[in-house]
Formats: sequence, structure tokens, C-alpha cells
Amino acid sequence: METLPPTLNLLFRSSLESAPSFRSPRVSLLRRFFIGCRFVASAAGGFCAGAEDSLLSFINGKMKATDVAHSIWKIVIRGGDTVVDATCGNGYDTIALLKLVADDSRRGCVHGLDIQSSALENTCYLLRESVAEKQRELVKLHLLCHSRMEDILPKDAAVRLIAFNLGYLPAGDKAIITKPHTTLFALQAASRIIASGGLISIVIYIGHPGGREELEAVLSFASSLAVEGWNCFKFETANRSTGPVLVFIIKK
Ligand SMILES: C[S@@+](CC[C@H](N)C(=O)[O-])C[C@H]1O[C@@H](n2cnc3c(N)ncnc32)[C@H](O)[C@@H]1O
Repeated sequence: METLPPTLNLLFRSSLESAPSFRSPRVSLLRRFFIGCRFVASAAGGFCAGAEDSLLSFINGKMKATDVAHSIWKIVIRGGDTVVDATCGNGYDTIALLKLVADDSRRGCVHGLDIQSSALENTCYLLRESVAEKQRELVKLHLLCHSRMEDILPKDAAVRLIAFNLGYLPAGDKAIITKPHTTLFALQAASRIIASGGLISIVIYIGHPGGREELEAVLSFASSLAVEGWNCFKFETANRSTGPVLVFIIKK
């Protein structure tokens, strides 16, 4: 494993607080196809109920892969849950997760990880701009490689969802990028801590150097999981060779 940066928990009252600013016939056919998918998925544990509209929008080119992932998260996450954003980046996924775990119980928690302090600064900034302080307190940011996520989670934490949005920081240094071997270690860690009924959600971009190798690593991991304990799905565009790929790993 590559040399990893030291753990640094960045809470909101830290120095980052002052970070600088910054129905056509075709659709009917597709709909029937996804009703079929839903039936199959329901038989496998009821995971996909309600998600077919998002998938339809994805394959019609009207929805981004990340938006599809967010709509699947809505089905899985309940208020008060503990979740992990394994690649904070600019914070859009962190915010989407926060909105789903925040409720009156105030027990919800989003642990966000990234290896770049600039990414955590961007996430902090976005949170401060768009979320009330009470909700922001439910987020804990860690400057840490996601392969070490077990280091920062309470031992008894029932983690409902772990999200990976792989690749490089948009508008950041494209040389700092997720790598297949650390992603694999992170997926192994995620599989040890995800709760029963929980989801490991992965968005993989394959248009950049190393992206396809990372996809292979993710797929090899997902396909190694025993069907008795896991449901694994992959969504990709068959005729767009560099389109993002969505992988969902659900613990039964
Ligand atoms: C595509 S961006 C994430 C986008 C983000 N989720 C958002 O909503 O803006 C990928 C991020 O993964 C981070 N990253 C790269 N290697 C990592 C690692 N080993 N552990 C944690 N984060 C990593 C990068 O620094 C980058 O910010």
C-alpha cells in the first residue's frame, strides 16, 4: 500500500471554518424493462422499489450517474443513520448524504474522507454556504485515505451506506486521483463495516488514464462476493465507451 497521510480529523470549528471563498413508445418499452428489473430486485430483497424512474432518466441521458446514485441512496438511508462519503471532493455527495441522515433525533452522522485538504476545504465551504449549523454538526471530515476508514469509525457503528465517487477532484489536480489498489483496500474495509441491508455505492469514471483499470478492480471485487450474502449490480451505457459506470453492492 502507498504511504498514507496522517489522520487528521477536521471538525467544523477547526481552521477550515475560515477557509477562503470559493412518453414515447421507446420509453414505454424501457419502463416495462425496469418494471421487470424491479420485480427481479424485489425478489432479491426489495432494494430497487421506486428507483426505476431515475434509471430511466439515466439511460435517456437526462440524469447524471451521480444523480441516479443519490436517488438510490434515498431508498436505503433513514434519518439517524451513520454513513460514509469515501471521496468528499467538492462536497456535493456529502451534502446529499447529510440531507438524508439529518432528522430530529440528531443521531445521524456523515463521515467524509479525502486525501486532499483542498477537497475538504471545498466541502466545508459548500456546507457552510448551503446547510444550517445544526445540520453541519452531523458531518465529520477526515483527511485520510479511504482504505483506512475503519480507523475513524466507532467500533459499534452500524454504517448504512458508503459512497465512492472515484477519480480526480473536478477543477483540481488531475494527478491526484483514486488508485485501483487503495480503492480495493477501501472496498474490503467497506465490506467489513457495512450494516446488513446497507449499500456500497460506487461511481467510476473510465475516460481518464487508469479509470478502466480501476473499474476492473471494482468489478473483480464485486464479483468475488458470495451471492448468499450480497447483491451486486452494475449499470453502464453500452454504446458510450467512456461513460461513467455505477456499481451498487448491497449487503443482504
Ligand atoms: C471525483 S472526486 C469526488 C467528488 C465528490 N464526491 C463531490 O461530490 O464533489 C474524487 C475525490 O477522491 C479523492 N481521493 C483520491 N484518492 C483518495 C483516497 N485514497 N482516499 C480518499 N479520497 C481520495 C480526490 O482527492 C478527489 O477529491
